Amino acid sequence: MRKTIAAGNWKMNLDFDEGRQLFHALTKLGHDDKATEVILAPPAPYLSLLGYTNTSSVHFAAQNCHHEDAGAYTGEWSARMLASLNIKHCIVGHSERRAQYGETNKQIAQKTQQCYAHGIRPILCCGETLAEREAGDHFNIVTEQINAVLKTIEAKQIRTLIIAYEPVWAIGTGVTASAAQAQEMHSFIRKSIASSYDRELAEQVHILYGGSVKPDNAKELFSLPDVDGGLVGGASLDYESFKGIIEAAI
Ligand code: PGA
Repeated sequence: MRKTIAAGNWKMNLDFDEGRQLFHALTKLGHDDKATEVILAPPAPYLSLLGYTNTSSVHFAAQNCHHEDAGAYTGEWSARMLASLNIKHCIVGHSERRAQYGETNKQIAQKTQQCYAHGIRPILCCGETLAEREAGDHFNIVTEQINAVLKTIEAKQIRTLIIAYEPVWAIGTGVTASAAQAQEMHSFIRKSIASSYDRELAEQVHILYGGSVKPDNAKELFSLPDVDGGLVGGASLDYESFKGIIEAAI
């Protein structure tokens, strides 16, 4: 039985006091961590300050890590550093990083390997643009993005992988994929993993939906058979709306 995951990606938003207050309010929700996992991905400078709090109810993710272990990479941080702060999750390959910083599938695979090398659970993002969907290429694009990573990691690592399907046309636009579109892609991803490996392994992979998740659409999305929760941007910045999303995941 897969846990439902409600993951909030703050992106480059909230000052430290705002973030700290939001985090502390969320720790008081008292959800059952065995059934629902709440993850927050704050801006990197806050990770050491918030991450050490290490409550059992709210976990932390970094929004990114470098594809190398260490070196002359000004402005970057590695999975090894995150592990030394006790951070257990890291988003890799978010579409904003792919589009704005030119991250390639190869680098994203290396980042994923770095995460596994340091005991961090990656949240691997994938998803097509509107033009790719309109051209009927969405299944090919997502397959390419996921396979580039899967072929570089071991089957036992795939069991703990979290995939976030985030159609680019739904991110921050207020347009959510319909329940049918989300289920179709999630089921496609799970079936592809089952055919490359086996069904039992594919059943363990978490597949989150991301793209304009809100309290009023979360319940429907999270109840779909292959949707195991959400990666939430805008609606994770406000206590009431993220609380509503966590409640939909319970
Ligand atoms: P959104 O962002 O919820 O604001 O659409 C989702 C994401 O980018 O992870």
